[in-house]
Amino acid sequence: MAYARRRLETASPDAWLEAQLLLAHGFNQTRTWVLTHPEKPLDAKKLELLDDLLEQRLQGVPLPYLLGHWEFFGLDFIVSPDVLIPRPETELLVEQALTWLKQHPDRRRAADVGTGSGCIAVSLAYHQTDLNLVATDQSQPALDIAGQNAVRHGVSDRIRWQKTNLLDGFTGQLDLVVANLPYIPSATLEELLVSKFEPLSALDGGPDGLLLISALLEDAPRWWAPGGVILLEIEAGQGESAPALARSLLPVAPINLLPDLAGKPRLLKIENEK
Ligand SMILES: C[S@@+](CC[C@H](N)C(=O)[O-])C[C@H]1O[C@@H](n2cnc3c(N)ncnc32)[C@H](O)[C@@H]1O
Repeated sequence: MAYARRRLETASPDAWLEAQLLLAHGFNQTRTWVLTHPEKPLDAKKLELLDDLLEQRLQGVPLPYLLGHWEFFGLDFIVSPDVLIPRPETELLVEQALTWLKQHPDRRRAADVGTGSGCIAVSLAYHQTDLNLVATDQSQPALDIAGQNAVRHGVSDRIRWQKTNLLDGFTGQLDLVVANLPYIPSATLEELLVSKFEPLSALDGGPDGLLLISALLEDAPRWWAPGGVILLEIEAGQGESAPALARSLLPVAPINLLPDLAGKPRLLKIENEK
């Protein structure tokens, strides 16, 4: 373990934890097992595997892609380079959606747009057991992973996956629409390490980062039920531009901006009139 930790120290402030997780993965054991078997020697094959994982990590490959899974909202999700790694910020969106559902027991028509790993749709279905959702993505590989996550958490019978642009082709009415769409401005993206490893199609929000959010809101009158709500994750820097965009496209809808734990605006809540 000391060997793995030493090698990772230059790449990560969490070298100790990452070494434990990579060893657990390499041994196909839990972290507790790794911690309680510090003397366990690695055979040549395992050492080769560990070296390969460490090398990839040193090249910047995110830890969740090496492990093949990651925790979100208390559930373990399969991830691969085809999907965005679920982020803790997005848990705010799930919390708000669950609160809204509790307050509106007669409103159960829901959609998750740009579902990626399915972390939002699966968490909502898991915690709100009378909820059915449509979950869309343009990426079939992402939808395949999302489908596996739904099976893993026992909610696959309540989520309908659809490969489409935003909500194109959807013909019903929706009470709750949640979306963590790509929102990073294209120019910013080029400077970010994240764009080297995670799918560009999950990150690139166009010139001002609001291209897809704008397209979704423009389309809203087609499917948004009276009294319904739209919850959108935004970048902290879009605290003014995103509400302004929503106000211009949906002028009569009350709009709220909700902060994350660090006090940064991260969630746009738009309510439809009854
Ligand atoms: C930021 S990721 C979010 C993934 C997941 N919902 C999460 O919170 O981790 C955005 C997702 O939107 C999908 N996407 C991008 N453009 C889309 C579009 N026009 N229509 C549907 N999905 C789209 C991407 O493939 C990606 O999976």
